[in-house]
Amino acid sequence: MKVTVIGAGNMGSAFVRQLTRAGHQVSVVARTGSKAAQVAAANPGARAVDVANSAADADAVVLATGYADAVGALKAAGHLQGKVVIDVTNPLTPDYMGLTLGHSTSAAEEIAQAVPGAEVVKGFNTLFAQVLAEGADFGNGQQATVFVASDSARAKQVATTLAKSMGFSVVDAGGLKNARYLEPLAGLNIYLGYGAGLGTAIAPTWIRKA
Ligand SMILES: NC(=O)c1ccc[n+]([C@@H]2O[C@H](COP(=O)([O-])OP(=O)(O)OC[C@H]3O[C@@H](n4cnc5c(N)ncnc54)[C@H](OP(=O)(O)O)[C@@H]3O)[C@@H](O)[C@H]2O)c1
Repeated sequence: MKVTVIGAGNMGSAFVRQLTRAGHQVSVVARTGSKAAQVAAANPGARAVDVANSAADADAVVLATGYADAVGALKAAGHLQGKVVIDVTNPLTPDYMGLTLGHSTSAAEEIAQAVPGAEVVKGFNTLFAQVLAEGADFGNGQQATVFVASDSARAKQVATTLAKSMGFSVVDAGGLKNARYLEPLAGLNIYLGYGAGLGTAIAPTWIRKA
């Protein structure tokens, strides 16, 4: 698939690494062009592009900026009508120990509302960048889980296909409204990783009794 990754930080660079390894054609965008160029240079199969029109020929856009920058970055990426947007943001407080919105809305719903016509899917936000960068395999036959929530079946399918191509298992978490659950789940993951000291080589999953 052709994927545009907006953001070349912890998450963006991890996406570029795993997506190129999975054989996708990846364009990467950052605020600072040299950062995108650096990430592209480290990952054969990736190229750094300017944000303007960067979404134009993409099958999917991965939104990997801070939440405060997300809508601006997305709008700058060009025409988004019918475009699949994978929102990985978490609306975190400055100390990372809380969320700035929730219960009655979510970052994903706010982004979807700000960019009508785009097909937004929440996903990957419950994975630490370290897990994404190092890969899905946790050993003992266990893969990290990507939860996907969207009102668009197509967006969910695209996110699922990309996640599976990178080796992750996928849980269908329902409609976009359920980002209201996925974003606090990421908050719990951050607490466990940093607050409780478990470190960032952890990931939440769901299991079912046989
Ligand atoms: N880090 C994690 O473990 C993790 C896990 C799950 C979800 N998340 C979520 O993923 C998102 C990214 O996190 P991160 O840790 O990767 O942050 P980060 O390292 O600060 O990276 C953010 C990236 O967004 C780019 N950016 C900001 N505004 C932009 C714009 N207008 N146009 C283009 N690029 C723009 C920045 O560009 P410059 O480099 O040029 O400044 C930077 O490369 C956040 O919403 C976070 O909550 C993070």
